[in-house]
Formats: sequence, structure tokens, C-alpha cells
Amino acid sequence: MEHIPVLLEETLRMLQPAPGRTFIDATFGRGGHSRALLARGARVIALDVDPDAEMEAKKLLAEVGPERFSFRRINFGQLTEVAQQEGQVDGLLLDLGISSPQVDQAGRGFSFQQSGPLDMRMDPTSGTTAADLVNHLGEAELRNLLRAGGEDRDPGKIARAIVRARPLATTQDLVSAVSRATRPPRPGAKHPATRTFLALRRAVNHEAERLDQALAAIPKVLRSGGRVAFLTYHSAEDRAVKHWIREHSELEKREMGMAFGHPNPERWVKTLEEGVPGEAEISENPRARSARLRGAERLPEDAR
Ligand SMILES: C[S@@+](CC[C@H](N)C(=O)[O-])C[C@H]1O[C@@H](n2cnc3c(N)ncnc32)[C@H](O)[C@@H]1O
Repeated sequence: MEHIPVLLEETLRMLQPAPGRTFIDATFGRGGHSRALLARGARVIALDVDPDAEMEAKKLLAEVGPERFSFRRINFGQLTEVAQQEGQVDGLLLDLGISSPQVDQAGRGFSFQQSGPLDMRMDPTSGTTAADLVNHLGEAELRNLLRAGGEDRDPGKIARAIVRARPLATTQDLVSAVSRATRPPRPGAKHPATRTFLALRRAVNHEAERLDQALAAIPKVLRSGGRVAFLTYHSAEDRAVKHWIREHSELEKREMGMAFGHPNPERWVKTLEEGVPGEAEISENPRARSARLRGAERLPEDAR
């Protein structure tokens, strides 16, 4: 399936790309959002851990040139280093999770609908695979992983079924184990394996930790008046972003009844309007269904 950038117009409205402005696209993927930022005249520093994303970025670099575009194959957990080297920027985009091409390549092991090895690494050149986790973690550790990451309804039962089914090698081995531990899904409902796959993918890629690292780096990344846009695709991810915005936002300062103008370094952003895809976008791109756009703008020093 072709990769269609999610909530593109809404993201551009939030980030306000223009000539002379610099953006970090921390999740380049197939470059859908980066291309649109570049088309509006902005400069883009793109990051991704996936070698396939790097290949795509090389094509874009050949089209646009190094003045306006650069790419680094690094983890966005290292955003602070990027900011130290590049200086503060006008905008940051975090389009979280995996891209459609990653899901569609059976060999990457992200999809429970296709048979492939249990891999699930966004960077397939290093780190632990999903097979390593399901075959070697203790049952209690597996249960905790499923509980923490994927909203599995009965993580204990699923963990037990996985341990009994060892060794697991393919995505279909995992689907069979989950199916043995759960009721068949009602028509139209999500397959229970969706949650198990999400939990494993999050653990394999340390997604919660990487997001926390990126959030902690934002004060170093954004200049005053700069904006950050987040696209989230499931509730745990969205909750982390929502809490971060609330914790640091001006809104909360007012809610807490603090004197206006009282300098408070803890409250240094203002919340931007949220967005979710409309019916037209969802029918064109069903994978946008669960997306939510959130954002914040860094307040100038004297407004804090
Ligand atoms: C939803 S896709 C982005 C799609 C992109 N906006 C586009 O329009 O093509 C997310 C991308 O972020 C990358 N990614 C996920 N976590 C990452 C991390 N911690 N560091 C760097 N890249 C990451 C994935 O490899 C994937 O390519």
C-alpha cells in the first residue's frame, strides 16, 4: 500500500512552514510530511532509524539539495544532540509509530495479517527482535510487557499461551497462540492479536522510553515561538503527549490561578488546536483512523 501522509493539511497549518524556517521531521518514514514542508519553502532536517527511510531520503536529497534537506539515520531519543549540532528550530514533527510500507513488508514482522518472521524492529540492523522476547522472557515478564504496552484484556492468559507455544518463529505462530487464549473477535471488532502485536512492537522498539526522551529534549529543540506537532495512533502514546502538553502549558498556569506574567519556567508552551481525521481522509486512508494531532507552541520568555 502506498504511504499517504496522515492529517497533512492540519499538520502544515499547525507547523506553518515558510521560506527561511527550519523544521526537524523526527520520523521521516517515506517523507510525506517532509516533502510538503519542503514544497512550502522550508528547510528540513529529517531523522529515522529505518534503512528504507534512509534510501528514500537519499532520493529526496538528490532532488532538493543539501542546502534545504538533510537526513540522519538516528533515533529521535537523541534529539538533544541534533539540537546541539543544528541549533534551535522553528518546528518539530513527531509522526509516531510505524509507516504503511513497514506494515506491508511481511518480512518485517509487524503485521498479524501476513506471515513473516517475528522481528518488529524499526531498525532491523540492531537490537532485540519480537521472537527473542516471546521465546526468552519469563511468563511474568511477558505478562507485564503485554499489560504495559498493548491494552491486552487478559495479558496473563496470553502470556501463558505464548509460553506453551514455544518456540515461536513467525507472526502466524503468535496469532495462533493469542487465538488459543482469547475468544474469537466479534464481526467488525479488532482481532485480539492486534493488541499483542502492538505491545510487542512497543517493547522491541522501546517506544515509550524514546518518546519520553524526545519530550524531554523539546526545550532544547524549539526556539521561542517554535511549534511541535505530534501524530499519535493509540491511547498510551496519546496520553503521554497529552500529559506533556498539559504539564508544560500556559493553560494549566491559568487553571492553577497563578499571576499572569509571573515567570514560571515549568509552563512554557501554549496548547494548539487538536485534529482528528474526517470521514473523507479515513475512507481514502483507513490507517489514519486512529490518528490524533496535538501540538504546542513555545512561549516567548517575556510571556511566561
Ligand atoms: C508513521 S511513520 C512516519 C511517516 C512519515 N511522516 C511520512 O509521511 O512518510 C513513523 C516513522 O518513524 C520512524 N520511527 C519510529 N520511532 C522512531 C525513533 N525512535 N527514532 C527515529 N525514527 C523512528 C519509523 O521507522 C517510521 O519510519
